[in-house]
Amino acid sequence: MSALLEISNLTKAFPGVVANNNISLHVNAGEILGLLGENGAGKSTLVKAVFGLLTPDTGVILIDGQAIEYGDTLGVISRGVGMVHQHFQLVPVMTVAENIVLGDEPKKFGLIDRKSAKAEVLRLSEKYGLEVDPDARIEDLPVGMQQRVEILKALRKDVRLLILDEPTAVLTPQETDELLDVMKNLASQGVGIILITHKLREVMAVADRVVVLRNGNVVGSASPRDTDEAGLAQMMVGRSVVLEVLKSKAKPKDVVLSIRSLEVLDDRKMPAVKGIDLEVRSGEILGIAGVEGNGQRELVEAIAGMRNRVGGQVLVDGKPTKNLHPRSVRSAGISHIPEDREKHGLVATYSIADNLVLNQFNQPPFAKGWIRDLEKVDEIAKELVEKFDVRTPSYANLANSLSGGNKQKVVVARELSQTLQVLIAAQPTRGVDVGSIEFIHNQLISARDNGAAVLLVSAELDEILSLSDRVAVIYGGKIVAIIDAEGADRNYIGRLMAGLKA
Ligand SMILES: Nc1ncnc2c1ncn2[C@@H]1O[C@H](COP(=O)(O)OP(=O)(O)O)[C@@H](O)[C@H]1O
Ligand SMILES: [Mg+2]
Repeated sequence: MSALLEISNLTKAFPGVVANNNISLHVNAGEILGLLGENGAGKSTLVKAVFGLLTPDTGVILIDGQAIEYGDTLGVISRGVGMVHQHFQLVPVMTVAENIVLGDEPKKFGLIDRKSAKAEVLRLSEKYGLEVDPDARIEDLPVGMQQRVEILKALRKDVRLLILDEPTAVLTPQETDELLDVMKNLASQGVGIILITHKLREVMAVADRVVVLRNGNVVGSASPRDTDEAGLAQMMVGRSVVLEVLKSKAKPKDVVLSIRSLEVLDDRKMPAVKGIDLEVRSGEILGIAGVEGNGQRELVEAIAGMRNRVGGQVLVDGKPTKNLHPRSVRSAGISHIPEDREKHGLVATYSIADNLVLNQFNQPPFAKGWIRDLEKVDEIAKELVEKFDVRTPSYANLANSLSGGNKQKVVVARELSQTLQVLIAAQPTRGVDVGSIEFIHNQLISARDNGAAVLLVSAELDEILSLSDRVAVIYGGKIVAIIDAEGADRNYIGRLMAGLKA
């Protein structure tokens, strides 16, 4: 019997990069295949080829033993393949039912037959055990529910192979667990599933088999029964990594950072931070847990002086810092690892060395009066590149030339190499490989142990829980709870993140 999906020797190159190099893999009916790999490993490229969204250079893709025609998405769909994309493709102002039938609506007298659209959605919903309200508007639904609509849409045409490309990136822990249950249920009905993720916990929980990609190559496969998260991480990065953060108990001292009644607007001038009070002590890490889009970004930018504080204050050592003045905020003692390193963290067209001294280039020891001391810059750059393991042929190269993970290491190196009173770390390991995550985590802990007050913002609850001493949960622009991280209950925090009362 042939496999449901069989990929043989598939290669796809883009200018300057081989995204998929001679990849072969298969998926059987009723099986969940976890497709793991770091950012840029080639996962999305591979499944886009299967779904007919791009044409491989060489290779064969068989469904039920029959080759598919490249670039023919409709043909692939008609053979039972459904895909849920990394970025949602729903129309916010339309209802659930309208979205699900979009592109192939049931018609009556030339008009959309709403009644049968609704009936069809209810039938699908029942068949797969995915409850939705067909009349609800997408924009009114929580993200987890929108995800469910995407899945129902993908399942509409009697799907036998379902592809999910990083479906849990924006979900709360509960929504993620629900989705994993849905996947198990679908598999038990004979659907083959490809689950793409970089979260090891998820593949360990549901996958029957795991294939790991690195730099466009299949570098290993395993059964979750015979391996563990550390084993998978090792395959992903090619060396052994310690996933657990080893840290001693915090010894918090005085309050260094105080945030009082802070109010901030988002880009659309709507309130995003609605009166937040927080205190962070020297020698502790306060983690902010929350689903993205609940005010975290605006909070961080306002603290850093990059976004207008329409109300409230940010104090360091009891002294108010200036609104909308990043430079004076820095000199007040606040360092900042920004969420968007490309935009706010680095100057792409400066050298790595210059980026490493970016905020101090005109100060001693890097300058005397008007004159830069380039030897000193070289000396520090050499030291930091080594210490922070920035992978580059030379620190004289442009920051542009670095991979995402190495760019992040440059930002972290710069921010942590200054005398640190307060450190704001926003998504410090996003898009960074597992090995560098380990390194950055250790650096954050040692900043704490050297007396910094650290405010950590991360969309990854696991990261918050493993690094923080206290956890503040943010929802709808407010802090809804502050709890000790030790012994904290994931589920409880997840419920708070979803806006549910304890
Ligand atoms: N349309 C494209 N044009 C050029 N390069 C691309 C394109 N799509 C992906 N790439 C490159 O191919 C590699 C693999 O990307 P992708 O398949 O998206 O990785 P993953 O999904 O594992 O993060 C990356 O180096 C990426 O920059
Ligand atoms: Mg991808």
